[in-house]
Amino acid sequence: MWRGWRDVLGRLGFETAALDAKLLTGHALGLDALALATREQEQVSDEQAANVAELLQRRMTGESVARILGEKEFYGLPFWLNVATLEPRPDTELLVDLAIEALPQGGRLLDLGTGTGCIPIAVLANRADAEGIATDIALDAMTMARENAERNGVQGRLEFALGNWFEALDLGYSGRDGGEGFDLITSNPPYIASDVVETLDPEVRAFDPRLALDGGPDGLGPYRIIAAGAARHLKPGGQVLVEIGYDQGESVSALFAEHGLTEILVHKDLNGLDRVISAHHLKDE
Ligand SMILES: C[S@@+](CC[C@H](N)C(=O)[O-])C[C@H]1O[C@@H](n2cnc3c(N)ncnc32)[C@H](O)[C@@H]1O
Repeated sequence: MWRGWRDVLGRLGFETAALDAKLLTGHALGLDALALATREQEQVSDEQAANVAELLQRRMTGESVARILGEKEFYGLPFWLNVATLEPRPDTELLVDLAIEALPQGGRLLDLGTGTGCIPIAVLANRADAEGIATDIALDAMTMARENAERNGVQGRLEFALGNWFEALDLGYSGRDGGEGFDLITSNPPYIASDVVETLDPEVRAFDPRLALDGGPDGLGPYRIIAAGAARHLKPGGQVLVEIGYDQGESVSALFAEHGLTEILVHKDLNGLDRVISAHHLKDE
């Protein structure tokens, strides 16, 4: 039956019509790819057909397959999604690569605006010696991140703090920075200017939480806060890594420099676009 839906999606211009139809049909029927292929001739009940149609109709309104399935793979690991979380993007894997490399042995990480928890969970899953804290201002995102930490087996090494950027750390976490500061701060904050959010693809605007996208009038609001607070929360020699929009390399570098961070580098993604900024806190404050 997925072939019929593939044709419908194809006629509507969905580039991944076949894959989308297979994944959603399989999900609605509780069949994996192999079962879907081998049981193609079997009759489905009216109820099953209605379940398939419901998911495909959601896809037709522009909702992504990952949102409909409620999960997305990132850095080779599975993450649940909910309405409060952004879908982890492949672009963000560069930040995770750099974080895994940057953390010293036994290092402590702070991830600001964690969403699904994809950044710290992927880092800790690859660094069994490290631990960290993840923050978000959205309670539902934090709940999802906790479940994802358990799903990926890092719950014993990742703590959560709800609140506004660094202020979350004052609101009753157990002090896992040991009072000395963190070795690494990571963040993929909202970085789209408010008026640009209005012009995004309907798919993004309708289904991604605005809190995860809107970086204020010039898109730099969260970077100002992170740049201003980084040195205070980093150990001497500690590093901050932030994801940026392709045209924000210069302005975000300038913010970090303004706040005394050094060795500021802009890292390009596989498409050759500016994607991550790293900066160091070299001296004691
Ligand atoms: C672009 S999303 C990134 C989510 C996740 N880190 C990722 O890479 O997929 C930004 C996240 O920042 C959170 N956020 C927005 N405003 C915040 C604030 N004032 N304090 C803390 N987190 C905030 C949002 O809820 C969202 O989860």
